[in-house]
Amino acid sequence: MDAHTRNRGVFTSVWAGTEGKVRPVRIYAIANQKGGVGKTADTVNLSAALSARGRNVLALDWDPQGHLTEALGIEPAEDATLAKALLGKWSGELGELVRRTAGGLFVIPTSDEMFLLETDLHALRMREWILSKFLDNLVGVFDDVVIDCPPSLGLLNDNALVAARRRKDDEGPQGRIVIPVQAEDSSLRALRLFLRQVATLQEELKIELDIAGLVVNMYDGRKGRIATSTLEAFEKHPLDLLAVFKDKKEVREAWRLRTTVFEHAPESETTEGFRALVGRLDPELAVVA
Ligand SMILES: Nc1ncnc2c1ncn2[C@@H]1O[C@H](COP(=O)(O)OP(=O)(O)OP(=O)(O)O)[C@@H](O)[C@H]1O
Ligand SMILES: [Mg+2]
Repeated sequence: MDAHTRNRGVFTSVWAGTEGKVRPVRIYAIANQKGGVGKTADTVNLSAALSARGRNVLALDWDPQGHLTEALGIEPAEDATLAKALLGKWSGELGELVRRTAGGLFVIPTSDEMFLLETDLHALRMREWILSKFLDNLVGVFDDVVIDCPPSLGLLNDNALVAARRRKDDEGPQGRIVIPVQAEDSSLRALRLFLRQVATLQEELKIELDIAGLVVNMYDGRKGRIATSTLEAFEKHPLDLLAVFKDKKEVREAWRLRTTVFEHAPESETTEGFRALVGRLDPELAVVA
């Protein structure tokens, strides 16, 4: 039985189904070692935007802080956990790891073991490739996997970047990295550090990492020259500036209500921005006006 057929069986209880063709999975790592720049908010709302375009989306909470799990109002996992599955300590059906939100997103939540996972991964062979190998099992199940990365440059982050690498084989999952930033000087410095880590990983692991671009979050031009000049620097940066999201209360409100802006404020500027972001990331999904 091939992986596609097997996985379809696993998910029949939670998954609406497709026409039986293997579609390339797209994997997005939402990554930046700088804390509080909007990684989780972007993961939640990009996932919702992709889902609104009819995609089967898996949002993966890859940050031990568990903010994605919390933001989507899901209980942390207890028995069937991703951490156990990755360490070979659990071998049930993949579907048991996955929850579904009322809004239709599939989510792999955090668990308490996530805090120890990084240390445990260090002991494994091919330790940077563990998440990638796990996600290969999802071929044919989801269209998009969006990974909420932790605010550090450790092994968890490396695993997410490797999972989101560019593959030579067109049929395999295709990955891209999205870097959330804030319009502050410290964000520019953090970006340089992040890009250095990307270069190191490419060199050491002989992989190709495709950075889709930058997403500026919580932009507030009223903050003056610091904000506007940093935004200018991002505009001039060789990486694409994919989107600028203003500091908007609907983003915080949606989080507090344990939902996405697509459900909380469907007609807002923020949802419009995330729809456009989907088109930038995957032109086949661009909405033609
Ligand atoms: N466009 C926005 N407008 C208003 N608030 C926002 C916006 N984007 C994110 N936020 C808020 O900013 C805070 C930090 O965002 P978030 O938790 O997504 O950052 P993070 O990079 O994931 O942080 P960490 O590094 O701790 O994981 C959250 O309270 C979130 O709701
Ligand atoms: Mg976060």
